[in-house]
Amino acid sequence: MATETPGQETQETLSNLLSETRRFAPPADLAAAANVTAEAYEEAAEDRLGFWERAADRLTWARRWDTTLEWEPPFAKWFVGGRLNVAYNCVDRHVEEGRGGKVAFYWEGEPEDDSRTITYADLAKEVAKAANALEELGVRKGDRVAVYMPMIPELPIALLACARIGAIHSVVFGGFSATALKSRIHDADAKIVITADGGFRRGAPSALKPTVDEAVAESPGVEHVLVVRRTGQDVPFGDKDVWWHDLVDRQADTHEPVPHDAEDPLYILYTSGTTGKPKGILHTTGGYLTQVAWTHHAVFDLKPETDIYWCTADIGWVTGHSYIVYGPLANGATSVIYEGTPDTPHRGRFWEIVQKYKVTILYTAPTAIRTFMKWGDDIPAKFDMSSLRVLGSVGEPINPEAYVWYREHIGAGRCPVVDTWWQTETGGIMISPLPGVTAGKPGAAMRPLPGVVADVVDDQGNSVQNGGGGFLVVREPWPSMLRTIWGDDKRYVDTYWSRFDGMYFPGDGAKRDEDGDLWLLGRVDDVMLVSGHNISTTEVESALVSHPKVAEAAVVGATDPVTGQAIVAFVILRGGADESGDIAGELRAHVAKTLGPIAKPRQIMVVPELPKTRSGKIMRRLLRDVAENRSLGDVTTLTDSSVMNLIAEKLPSAK
Ligand code: WT7
Repeated sequence: MATETPGQETQETLSNLLSETRRFAPPADLAAAANVTAEAYEEAAEDRLGFWERAADRLTWARRWDTTLEWEPPFAKWFVGGRLNVAYNCVDRHVEEGRGGKVAFYWEGEPEDDSRTITYADLAKEVAKAANALEELGVRKGDRVAVYMPMIPELPIALLACARIGAIHSVVFGGFSATALKSRIHDADAKIVITADGGFRRGAPSALKPTVDEAVAESPGVEHVLVVRRTGQDVPFGDKDVWWHDLVDRQADTHEPVPHDAEDPLYILYTSGTTGKPKGILHTTGGYLTQVAWTHHAVFDLKPETDIYWCTADIGWVTGHSYIVYGPLANGATSVIYEGTPDTPHRGRFWEIVQKYKVTILYTAPTAIRTFMKWGDDIPAKFDMSSLRVLGSVGEPINPEAYVWYREHIGAGRCPVVDTWWQTETGGIMISPLPGVTAGKPGAAMRPLPGVVADVVDDQGNSVQNGGGGFLVVREPWPSMLRTIWGDDKRYVDTYWSRFDGMYFPGDGAKRDEDGDLWLLGRVDDVMLVSGHNISTTEVESALVSHPKVAEAAVVGATDPVTGQAIVAFVILRGGADESGDIAGELRAHVAKTLGPIAKPRQIMVVPELPKTRSGKIMRRLLRDVAENRSLGDVTTLTDSSVMNLIAEKLPSAK
């Protein structure tokens, strides 16, 4: 993996962050009644496996495990010999224990007045029907099911139905292109695709089915496409297509949950890597559910009887898997699910939803918070948000100003902010304050959670104490860790376990301050974080080069006030390419078509050359300087230092 030592910019960020002296102690009432206290750190330090065993005991097991951890580095097995059904744990047991009338989901559609309330008893029936339907379509344990859906109740229902029968779901975010969907269907060899005619996006129906048709046309392994009618749009319907309402509605509303092995796969979720091909991150059953349930209980201090919890992520990302579906349901929480965007039909929609459902715990992303800051303090001020008590952040480092704004303008200075660091690969939260314990520092994710052993190391893998920046590593296996990359154990080892001997390397830079608290400093590899989404530079470069006019492309993530990083592309056109017209516009549209709209570069600059080292590696660091309008760093390792002058000369005409 290409890693850069945290450089000059990182050092600047560091000194800014470390001059931050504000501290926010937990509210006394919250601390007094908190689910988890400071003792949890001691208990886990004394007996780490015992700590996770107690966390696992919060679930209902059909057969208790024999061995807590089998560790053959870097391959882990947790709760070996244990058997459980994830859907039973998330749904049925709440009904059996008399909580069937409790609301599982308040679903809020994007069109106003389009909402549904789903109790645990309702959910049990819907999941049973969907599981029966999948079985009727021939889906069996271990089969892969691709899911490409808007944020409608049938999405979590579909996931739970897969989990119930032991089929492995692979959710592909609804904003991805047909090409991206197709490559994920092929990589996992999915047998079924579950989708919808479309979803609502910024006030209008937006079709999904045609994208699925395009992907499925070149996927002979797909036997059926199960389609939810959401928008009522006219969509083409072919031989493989089955309407959800035709098939699912007529099924029996009971279904026997068979226990699965703790290490049976639960799902695959693709994430960008440093090479173009996305990695199918594999999560399994017992350890995953243990950690997402415990962290959701601890980090958000969830009180299932009284809290109304809302995670604003899309279920297409890991945040939605772990903290909309599995963690909250395992804990018997009442959650809000919202289909739409924060600005539809007006910029106060989020706060209107908080007010309507009296949301007590809100979990969102720094990019959203920065957008709200930009829209103005007066918008949230119009709504009654006195129900809120805990605020969470995830997806990228949260800048101290955004943290303080969130605390003040959303949390009225009363609610602790928990900045949660984790990844698709870690499955669950790893580093975070505990709201009843930690005196939070704006911008710091603070400490590894009890049971998690993380560290900051230098280039050689030696622990860094109160020094400069270093690399974040995890020293011990954790229950919700990825088990491998689907079909590619070697890539799993190479990507995560080869940079530092015996340690998991997530690809993030970090710093430990004098108090021992951790500050995350962003990626040190070639992965960009755009609005908290993981996009690799290589992926976007390959998309650009697949355009007939492009000879070569280099892509960097440049700091952006709203999206965190923004994609900036430098392209060399092919000799003879027609340079008239809006080339940048044409290339941006091409990337959107190939990878999906989230990967569209903010800026495309046509340049005559790219800066390369003698070994031919593109020096993205210099391009980042250009993209961020900085004076250039060290150019001595360039083959030809005049290249940067050529690029600089072209800039006034940059598109
Ligand atoms: C990368 C993982 C975790 C779900 C959403 C993203 C960055 C995530 C934080 C945070 C600093 C963060 C890291 C990580 N990241 N949360 N609180 N502070 N950075 O999942 O797409 O797998 O991305 O997001 O760089 O490696 P993902």
